[in-house]
Amino acid sequence: MSAAAELQQAWTAVAGSPLRGRLRVPGDKSVSHRAIMLGALADGVTRVTGFLEGEDTRATAKVFERLGVRIETPSASERIVHGVGLHGLRGSDAALDCGNAGTGMRLLAGVLAGQAFDSVLIGDASLSKRPMRRVTEPLAAMGARIDTQDGGLPPLRIHGGRALQGIEYTLPVASAQVKSALLLAGLYAQGETVVHEPHPTRDYTERMLAAFGWPIEFAPGYARLCGGHALRATDVAVPADFSSAAFFLVAASVVPGSDLVLDAVGMNPRRTGLLAALRLMGADIVEQNPRSEGGEPVADLRVRHAPLRGVEVPQALVPDMIDEFPALFVAAALAQGRTVVSGAAELRVKESDRIASMAAGLRALGARIEETPDGAIIDGGALHGGEVDSLGDHRIAMSFAVAAQCARGAVRIGDVANVATSFPGFEALAAQAGMRVDPA
Ligand code: S3P
Repeated sequence: MSAAAELQQAWTAVAGSPLRGRLRVPGDKSVSHRAIMLGALADGVTRVTGFLEGEDTRATAKVFERLGVRIETPSASERIVHGVGLHGLRGSDAALDCGNAGTGMRLLAGVLAGQAFDSVLIGDASLSKRPMRRVTEPLAAMGARIDTQDGGLPPLRIHGGRALQGIEYTLPVASAQVKSALLLAGLYAQGETVVHEPHPTRDYTERMLAAFGWPIEFAPGYARLCGGHALRATDVAVPADFSSAAFFLVAASVVPGSDLVLDAVGMNPRRTGLLAALRLMGADIVEQNPRSEGGEPVADLRVRHAPLRGVEVPQALVPDMIDEFPALFVAAALAQGRTVVSGAAELRVKESDRIASMAAGLRALGARIEETPDGAIIDGGALHGGEVDSLGDHRIAMSFAVAAQCARGAVRIGDVANVATSFPGFEALAAQAGMRVDPA
């Protein structure tokens, strides 16, 4: 299929049956990216299980193959990464394509800033509009030289052979991507790299660096490491992605008669803000069999239908549910009463402007929603069918598939091909649970 035809893929979603049974959503995207990166930079062979076979993470694996790393694929959810050591990457004449992945590009900027060779990072149309100064500026303060396009946009031209120096940096906006880029550059820097965050964000890079044997000190909102050590290969077990589970948590909450179990969902506290927000709204979600897998907390989540009510989403939860707002907006549109989201301006610079995308789509389905610069005010009610555009944003597409399960009438969702970036096989798993999402 040509790229243009792919971009025109659409779904028709209609109300299905109550969501029931047990299912496991694919592996965590954030952890999968990092497992490839640290595996590549380690000495020895890293086996990754539960790997997300999505386009974003495949793009990252391909970048490292271009940089001379051998990566085997014994099965879709496994990768064997033959690490080349911290200084073993080889330069690539071709530009390195990160696809749709902000995480891929921003973390790679940190890794490549410390190499002896030059690199160019490119991305798709959406990634090419996303702000990169948030990484290039602090990396420049460490001694890196990275050229961007006007406005700090990709492609990024990263100059090699620069001596990096550790810095102490306070992030202006909570971002695990920026924190991780600096820590990865810090592996190559002289002295100490210290990062402070205005609010703690996901700490997968820190945990994984420790698991790969790199001395690192970290606590919520803080991380500190020094250059000059080595990474030792280790196996990585990737938990199921909470952000993918989120669509089913909302769908089963809003569809009467639902009773669904999501197996082995990653429960890192920096990811589960949606659980807290849905519970404030009255959701019935129980954590079963909590345990640790591959150093990460996981649990089976049993979710049963419950009437939801509008809430003011506490701003403190925002970074812990930053990827879940499209799903939350759907829950709010179907809840009783008013939901207010604020302090979430970052949503405007994700794969799409998620406040605008959700407001436009929900309005097309009859919802009452008012945009604010950093959030939205949503008055819950009933939804009807209609046509919405996911603007190439995977999480917008899947959120409207959830909304359709409670809409009176079919919802046609345009531009859904990018669902494969984070959740290949979404339609099949949704159908298994009872939802109806079909090619348009
Ligand atoms: C991610 C961090 C978050 C999140 C993204 C994945 C990561 O982005 O939205 O989906 O893996 O570090 P920001 O760092 O821009 O908040």
